[in-house]
Amino acid sequence: IKPKPTIFMIFGGTGDLAERKLIPALYNLFLENYMHKEFAIVGLGRTDYNDSSFIKNLLAGVNKFSRSGKADKEKWAEFSSRITYLRTDVNNEGDYLKMQSIIEKHEAEWSEKPAIIHYLAVAPNFFPIIASNLAKLDSASDCLRTRIVIEKPFGHDLESAKELNNLLSSIFAEKQIYRIDHYLGKETVQNMLAFRFANALFEPIWNRNFIEHVQISVTEDIGVEDRGGYYDGSGALRDMVQNHILQVLCLVAMEPPVNFDAEEIRNRKVDVLRAMRKFGTEELRNNTVRGQYSEGWVKGEKVAGYREEEGVNKDSNTETFAAMKFFIDNWRWQNVPFYVRTGKRIHQKSSIISIQFKDVPHLIFPSQSSESWQQNRLIISIQPEMSIRLQVQAKRPGVDMILNPVDMVFNYDGTYENDSPEAYETLLLDAMKGDQTLFMRGDQVETAWDLIMPVLESWESKKSISFPNYSADSWGPETAEALIAKDGFHWFTLPIKKTDKK
Ligand code: BG6
Repeated sequence: IKPKPTIFMIFGGTGDLAERKLIPALYNLFLENYMHKEFAIVGLGRTDYNDSSFIKNLLAGVNKFSRSGKADKEKWAEFSSRITYLRTDVNNEGDYLKMQSIIEKHEAEWSEKPAIIHYLAVAPNFFPIIASNLAKLDSASDCLRTRIVIEKPFGHDLESAKELNNLLSSIFAEKQIYRIDHYLGKETVQNMLAFRFANALFEPIWNRNFIEHVQISVTEDIGVEDRGGYYDGSGALRDMVQNHILQVLCLVAMEPPVNFDAEEIRNRKVDVLRAMRKFGTEELRNNTVRGQYSEGWVKGEKVAGYREEEGVNKDSNTETFAAMKFFIDNWRWQNVPFYVRTGKRIHQKSSIISIQFKDVPHLIFPSQSSESWQQNRLIISIQPEMSIRLQVQAKRPGVDMILNPVDMVFNYDGTYENDSPEAYETLLLDAMKGDQTLFMRGDQVETAWDLIMPVLESWESKKSISFPNYSADSWGPETAEALIAKDGFHWFTLPIKKTDKK
């Protein structure tokens, strides 16, 4: 389905997200003919731009960040002729009336009434005031065509997430609210659904009888960059675990949906979150690890420790690394540990899901060395490599019966010629089409907060005397190795390819 005519109102139009992600994504969708011929983009911001200075800035962003490279002159001219800028004070009701007249102008000119997407690419403290003011627009209650897209973080904890949900639902219907989690737009993450439910091979063994443990590891080599101010009030648990990691975990663990409807998929995902075991005192002590990076050397350059980063408190207790062991208390997953970890300034940027199957029940090959023996493993690499690998044992060529693990690999690069779309392209197109499958529902967000609240509370109430406890460019604190090693496993990593290095 192609989207209908659409007006994009981007709150925070002059901000980083619009420049790096939103406009390049919309431009690529335009290049690839996904946009309806009637569309308009309205940038809203406090800066004193006019249309042409605003557009000039956006072009610089597209040239720098778009996956399609430098913008084509003619195409950009055509695309940017739909962009206007409205200087906006989000507190000023008069500015919303100006938005209203822009909407009315397009409604009068176009072949049919457009979808109106209010994209809130602003700091969360502005969400309530913008939402309340949007309520006054005539089109706000039109469920079929007015939508509001909310960037993360969705709440700071369970209580604030509930408050925000209550406020939004007093103005909009749930089917108008698009809570974005950009991980769900990633190609390999979506492929999880195809892989599990479009192949007969895996589903019968996708359970506690065959799977020994699951790992989800999302590591980044960058530090907090220029986001120290935000990050110091957030930390890895809020920034990555509550949203991206738990969403990915849900896709790995969910029951087969009956169909591909947004509500069906989201119901099955909430079921997983509801079944996840709550952290009591013992789990908090044994199954969670936090870390904070100190200075170190990355690719030959000295980098600052977290506490020395701009915007960060000098004796900050915020974690830049989190690892934990989850259990899902249902029939499919009883007693199968799900280990997750995420961190900044880790040796390798890599997001992988690793599913380790149980060992063979009886080994008929004598004298195999333990190093060459590897239980079957399925590795879904989300980034930077986009691949799915099945590790199996095979006989090494030679006169002796010596086995070693080999990979059966599906690599996106070698299989498909086309570039994969950026996550934001997929998600913006879905928002235009009115498809909520890849967006988080209110109850999903709350259930995820509910699950991590005990960890948050415990970490916030107890200062970590050992911070910083891992150096930049390492694999995180040693206790994270111990978390998994005490169960007899180790964190899986893909070898770094030369091209991954900057
Ligand atoms: C964001 C976090 O949601 O995801 C960042 O706020 C993090 O801290 C980023 O760096 C990671 O996204 P990606 O797509 O680079 O893996």
